[in-house]
Amino acid sequence: MNPYETNRLVGEYLLFHYGAPEEVLPWDFGPSAALDYPVRCVSECVDVASLPSQARALDVGCAVGRATFELARHCAEVIGIDYSRRFVEVAAALASDGVLPYDRTDEGVLSTRLLASVPAEIPRRRVRFEHGDAQELRADLGSFDVVLAANLVDRLAEPARFLARSAGLVKGGGQLIITSPYTWLPEFTAPERWVGGFVADGVPRTTLEGLTTALSEHFTLVRTKDLPFLIREHSRKYQWSVAQASIWRRN
Ligand SMILES: C[S@@+](CC[C@H](N)C(=O)[O-])C[C@H]1O[C@@H](n2cnc3c(N)ncnc32)[C@H](O)[C@@H]1O
Repeated sequence: MNPYETNRLVGEYLLFHYGAPEEVLPWDFGPSAALDYPVRCVSECVDVASLPSQARALDVGCAVGRATFELARHCAEVIGIDYSRRFVEVAAALASDGVLPYDRTDEGVLSTRLLASVPAEIPRRRVRFEHGDAQELRADLGSFDVVLAANLVDRLAEPARFLARSAGLVKGGGQLIITSPYTWLPEFTAPERWVGGFVADGVPRTTLEGLTTALSEHFTLVRTKDLPFLIREHSRKYQWSVAQASIWRRN
């Protein structure tokens, strides 16, 4: 069973993407800098000033879609693609209605009904969601001024296939933003396909080095950025992680 098709992860990701700070982290001693990750993947990584007026954006591995909507603040057309049909259904419902009720797990079977809302000022009509595989994106997607792949590469069976395709997805001068905590796990990616986090010929190889090897023919690395994020599992259990964003400009 794909974990991203389960009720548990649909609820966790709706809270992760749309939860208000007090709904996610009710304490003043928690890592509040890690809130609103999908918003920060756009606000802290996209070079908005260099976008053309009719910019196109793609959010690959969009999950329930918050970063896709955030891209629509700056881009005339935004496509969100995910392999989870449940996530795509939920994101499409938010695009059509702007709101969606969901249950946040609190303790055992206890839960709280919350409402996910797309910020009213975002033009939702600019956004559409579709099911797709990042490793086999349809050929007629066209090219984009911004491609965001947030927390995706270490969840792919063949990340190299997505990286090889990315040159054809980004327009000349366009931006590719890859964020990841580099949590390489054999259940998602066979170790021989990891982009980094291994030793080759006695030399430790980082994922940033692997990304550079895969991308440098067509992209220039502009900068990297540390992006903390917080996923709440239940009232008293969280995953706190620090993704590395690498921001690339298409040559
Ligand atoms: C760790 S989540 C990150 C989601 C979102 N970008 C974020 O930052 O919250 C990984 C996402 O990638 C999606 N995914 C996994 N394999 C995929 C594939 N082959 N093609 C497209 N999406 C995929 C999952 O369904 C899930 O939504």
